[in-house]
Amino acid sequence: MTKNKILITGNSKTECRKIEELTTHIGYDAEVFFDKEQLLESLTNNTYHAIIADLNVTGPTGLLLLEALTALRQECPIIAIGNTSSINVAVTAIKLGAFDYIAKPYTMDDIKQALEKAGTPIHTTSQYHPAMNYKDWRFIDENNPIDAFDPGEFIGQSDAMRKVYETIKKVSNSDSTVIIYGESGTGKELVAKAIHYNSDRRHNKIVAVNCGAIPEDLLESELFGHEKGAFTGAIRSRIGRFELAQGGTIFLDEIGDMSPSLQVKLLRVIQEKVFERIGGINTIKSDVRIISATNQDLEKKVAEKKFREDLFYRINVIPIHLPPLRTRKVDIPVLANHFLRQFNSLNRKNITKITDEAMKILLGYPWPGNVRELQNVIERTVVMKESGAITVADLPERIVASAGSKKPVLQDAEVSEDGIDLNKTLEELEKKLLSDALRRSRGVKSEAARLLKINRTTLVEKLKRFNMTEI
Ligand SMILES: Nc1ncnc2c1ncn2[C@@H]1O[C@H](COP(=O)(O)OP(=O)(O)OP(=O)(O)O)[C@@H](O)[C@H]1O
Ligand SMILES: [Mg+2]
Repeated sequence: MTKNKILITGNSKTECRKIEELTTHIGYDAEVFFDKEQLLESLTNNTYHAIIADLNVTGPTGLLLLEALTALRQECPIIAIGNTSSINVAVTAIKLGAFDYIAKPYTMDDIKQALEKAGTPIHTTSQYHPAMNYKDWRFIDENNPIDAFDPGEFIGQSDAMRKVYETIKKVSNSDSTVIIYGESGTGKELVAKAIHYNSDRRHNKIVAVNCGAIPEDLLESELFGHEKGAFTGAIRSRIGRFELAQGGTIFLDEIGDMSPSLQVKLLRVIQEKVFERIGGINTIKSDVRIISATNQDLEKKVAEKKFREDLFYRINVIPIHLPPLRTRKVDIPVLANHFLRQFNSLNRKNITKITDEAMKILLGYPWPGNVRELQNVIERTVVMKESGAITVADLPERIVASAGSKKPVLQDAEVSEDGIDLNKTLEELEKKLLSDALRRSRGVKSEAARLLKINRTTLVEKLKRFNMTEI
């Protein structure tokens, strides 16, 4: 049975043992530490879903333990238990970084609720492997039904993300079509996989098709397959992604890019649940759940007659909006620490933490490439760094510059006796202006392009060239 691991520590051994008993009883895998060294080692080497700290808050050293834990705990929520119900103490504990404060005497339910609030739902049946890599989305025991959605590998506690988890939980077990809206890198694919793997269809495949990346004339055969001789080059028959996804889910990414003729064909699959391979005479019944995604404004495309209205209504049954990272800044530190741990372990490094100053820079940056961009920045920083903590100096210059903590680049560029590297200087200026425009447009590229009076494609090319976004 896979359980959620929690760490218990505190000033009173009897109290900690009591909490251990309670939490084990409700299904957690609890570990108790009274030794500082062991606690530190364990926090460094393990992933905990929550820390419960018993604090003797009336004593002079009561809150010191909490302070020490907040410094060490990475992104792990801390539930503080104190021996007073004074609001002041509770507020101080929360200010010091506790996720929740419970006053004694407490009940089992208080602890249970606090743990659930901390995003650690209790599994009563074996479901996820807690150390599962979110990219794999595997279950330890595929035959065991899951009865609760575990946000598992989704990181983010913001209200906006909690709403997303709620929706995923609600829609997973229906067959309704879902559309995921969100800027690049916000986690659209992750949501599609979460829905699939939390649905009854999880024993079958989830098949992704990027409608924007496949040339129009190939997309039809990609989706529906073709029979031998259906067109020049069709030397053998081939099944399409709809057939491959039979019984499972198809993820139509960048659906806004689908051509009008294919839109008609897709509409038919949705309405009649049948399709034919290109050149085929047999009608194939389709039992596939459709999840689509786009970073475009589909309603606008409908108004401009670039997207069929009837199809729009069919795919827009359950819309999920993924908010850009810059609008849910509370998630930035948790995500950054999560990626730090992930890349530490992948690269066998032990970069200790992200300093507060560096974190402030990360918080001030608009993240036009969203979670993916943050992930890439942390990866690069971890790879480049030998040891110690990530400081401002380790972060890419564009991020530091854009977060506004540095003097504007080149303000006083001049040709000195040693001369000046004109190309490099101009490049720096260009990078700065690109970041400024992106910041001003809150990451919306078309708007940034307008501010710079260049077209969007040119902007995207420049961002790519300067490695300014990992999209
Ligand atoms: N909430 C999250 N928690 C952890 N990782 C996340 C989260 N959101 C996104 N990621 C990670 O960020 C990266 C980008 O996510 P994903 O590919 O799902 O985004 P997307 O919206 O499909 O992007 P694009 O539009 O560029 O295709 C992935 O590596 C994903 O695992
Ligand atoms: Mg994607």
